[in-house]
Amino acid sequence: MKFMVTGALGQLGRVTVEELQARGIEVVGTDIPELPVDDLPALQAFFEGYRPSHVLHCGAITNVDGCETDRDLAMRVNGRGTANVAEMCRDFDSALVYVSTDFVFDGNGTRPYHHNDAPSPVSVYGESKLAGETAVLSHGRPDFYVTRTAWVFGPGGENFPKAIMNRANQGLPLSVVDDQVGCPSMTRDLAPAMVDLALSGADGGVYHMANEGSCSWYEFACDILTRAGIEVPVTTMSSSELDRPAKRPSYSILDCTRLTEVRGGPLPTYQDALDRYLEEELA
Ligand SMILES: NC(=O)c1ccc[n+]([C@@H]2O[C@H](COP(=O)([O-])OP(=O)(O)OC[C@H]3O[C@@H](n4cnc5c(N)ncnc54)[C@H](OP(=O)(O)O)[C@@H]3O)[C@@H](O)[C@H]2O)c1
Repeated sequence: MKFMVTGALGQLGRVTVEELQARGIEVVGTDIPELPVDDLPALQAFFEGYRPSHVLHCGAITNVDGCETDRDLAMRVNGRGTANVAEMCRDFDSALVYVSTDFVFDGNGTRPYHHNDAPSPVSVYGESKLAGETAVLSHGRPDFYVTRTAWVFGPGGENFPKAIMNRANQGLPLSVVDDQVGCPSMTRDLAPAMVDLALSGADGGVYHMANEGSCSWYEFACDILTRAGIEVPVTTMSSSELDRPAKRPSYSILDCTRLTEVRGGPLPTYQDALDRYLEEELA
């Protein structure tokens, strides 16, 4: 058994490599500049040399606002790059877990999104990640998985909890949107879930993968500060006041039942994950 993890310098990829190493599983992590997934010949050369049995595809352009202004890059890496990874996995008979996003949904839902609900992205980033999903699923392989996660944070990464604590520690005012709700998810819980799914022999297809619980960004900010023991006022604002280039789904709570059934239980609550994150990050 030999794993490949793309995007291994990113916040999820790095922790995923650590998870595999901790299990004693052979793994090679790849990232740019050495191995861009949108470089098919380079990818092919890597597969010919390493012949991974399992690929966990975390590499992506994740700058959601940046994707609005560089659509070509987003589609080339998240769409075509993922199609390249899927083609190589087909050719070399490797199982594939592709990490996708809640941003494939438009946010008009009124109950947690089921893995079979129709995607309808409202941003270029969401569109490009959906193009990746379509490429993976087009192979119809029983060992190709699309895992949609959300609001990712983890040790060493650039993420929302870190940004909130940095602003608070610098004495900057904190105003946070309260009209977007989702499922904060921690890399230390996502990584084992991906590895378990890759090894499960479960049916291929789409799986939602997030920590238990949901909140607004405002509630998440309050949770972060309370649990970090930082006492500063936080005010609310609306998404329209924030006026970011990319539209975000206002509601993107994920129903993770399918993954829960495969693993025999849900991921821990996001509050529990936050405590572990803070313990590690602030140590
Ligand atoms: N972060 C979130 O809130 C969130 C939510 C839902 C889903 N996801 C998905 O989860 C996965 C991991 O996200 P993350 O938070 O770990 O993001 P991240 O920290 O930005 O990691 C992504 C990694 O992929 C690399 N990358 C960029 N272009 C590449 C290319 N052409 N070929 C190979 N690798 C490339 C990035 O390098 P650079 O940093 O140099 O660009 C980075 O090291 C992504 O697929 C993302 O779409 C993330």
